[in-house]
Amino acid sequence: MNNRSQNTAPPLLKVDGLAVDYATSAISLRAINDVSFELRAGEAVALVGESGSGKTTTAMAIAGLLSPNARVVGGEVRYRGRPLPIDDDALMRPHRWSETSVIFQGAMNALNPVHRIVNQIAEPCILHGMSRGEALARATELLALVGIPADRCSAYPHQLSGGMRQRVMIAMALACRPSIVIGDEPTTALDVINQAQVLKLLVDLRTRFNLALILITHDLSVVAESCDRVMIMYSGRIVEDGTVAEIFAEPKHPYTRLLIDSIPTPGEGKRMLRPIPGDPPTLVKRPSGCAFHPRCPSAMEICTTEAPHLKQFGKGRVACHLHDSLPAADKVSANA
Ligand SMILES: Nc1ncnc2c1ncn2[C@@H]1O[C@H](COP(=O)(O)OP(=O)(O)O)[C@@H](O)[C@H]1O
Ligand SMILES: [Mg+2]
Repeated sequence: MNNRSQNTAPPLLKVDGLAVDYATSAISLRAINDVSFELRAGEAVALVGESGSGKTTTAMAIAGLLSPNARVVGGEVRYRGRPLPIDDDALMRPHRWSETSVIFQGAMNALNPVHRIVNQIAEPCILHGMSRGEALARATELLALVGIPADRCSAYPHQLSGGMRQRVMIAMALACRPSIVIGDEPTTALDVINQAQVLKLLVDLRTRFNLALILITHDLSVVAESCDRVMIMYSGRIVEDGTVAEIFAEPKHPYTRLLIDSIPTPGEGKRMLRPIPGDPPTLVKRPSGCAFHPRCPSAMEICTTEAPHLKQFGKGRVACHLHDSLPAADKVSANA
C-alpha cells in the first residue's frame, strides 16, 4: 500500500449507478445493479467477491466488452469527465487499449494460438497508428519489460509456460500506453510461485507507469500488497468499499469479515481457502432484502425485507443494516 489513495486529482473513471442485464432464452436477468465508484490516476483498487458476484460484468462494461446478450440498463461510465459509449463496440474502439485495457483471466483463450506472440502484441499498436516496424520494436521492448527473453519473442503461445503467457497478456495490455489497466483474475490460473511473480510484475509496472489498476480477484489475500483500496461485491452490488488498511483492520460488512476469515493463516498447513458457508445467490433466485441475509451470521428481521443502502462510512462505504444509525444525508445511493 502507498499514499496514492490520498491523491486529490479528479477521477479518471467515474462509474455511476451502472446496471447490466443478460438476456437468456426466456427472461432478462440483472447481473449488476447500482454499481458506483471512482478511480483516480495511479490508484489501485481491488474488486473482490465470490464467483458470480458480477466482477467480470463490471470490468467488461467499463471496457466496452460486454457479451452480445448483455445490455446496459442503467447508469453511465465517465472517463476524464466524458461519458463513454460502453454499449457501442465500434465507438469504444479508439478508447479500448489506448485508454483502458484488460488482462484476461485465461491467457491461452485470449491469445491467438496461430500467431507469434510478438506479432500479437504489435497488432494493437498498428491498429492505433504505428507503422509495422515501430510496432514490432515496441512489442519486443514490452516483452523484455515483462521478462520474456528476446529469443522467445517469436514463440507461439503454446510454446510458453502459463506464467510466461500471462506476462505476454500484461505486455499486450500495456502496448498502447493506457491510463487504466483492468486485471480480471490475472493470476488465478497460475501456481502459487508464478502467481506471486506475475502479481509483483503487475504491481511494479503499475508504479513505474503510474497506471490506475482495477484488480479483480476472488482471493482477498492477494490484495494487501498490491492495492490501495478494496471494493467488495456481492450478488451484483458493491457492499463495502474502503482502504486496504480499513478493510483488513475493521471490516464493516459481515460478508467482508467472512472473506477475511476465509484467508488461510501462514503455518496452517494446507493453503486452502476456508469457504464461506452457504452458496452465493443465482441471478434467477435473489433473496429478498439484503441478498446476503440467508448466509449472514448477524442477520436481523429488517435484512429479510429491505435492501440496505450503500452509505458513506468514514472514508469508505458500506451497505448493511448494522450501520443504519448513520445519518441519512450520508447516503451515497439508494438501491432499487
Ligand atoms: N453472457 C452471459 N449470459 C448470461 N448470464 C451471464 C453471462 N455472463 C455472466 N452471466 C451471469 O452473470 C453473473 C455475474 O457473472 P460475472 O460477472 O462473470 O461474475 P464474476 O466475475 O464475479 O464471477 C453470474 O450469475 C453469471 O452466471
Ligand atoms: Mg469473473
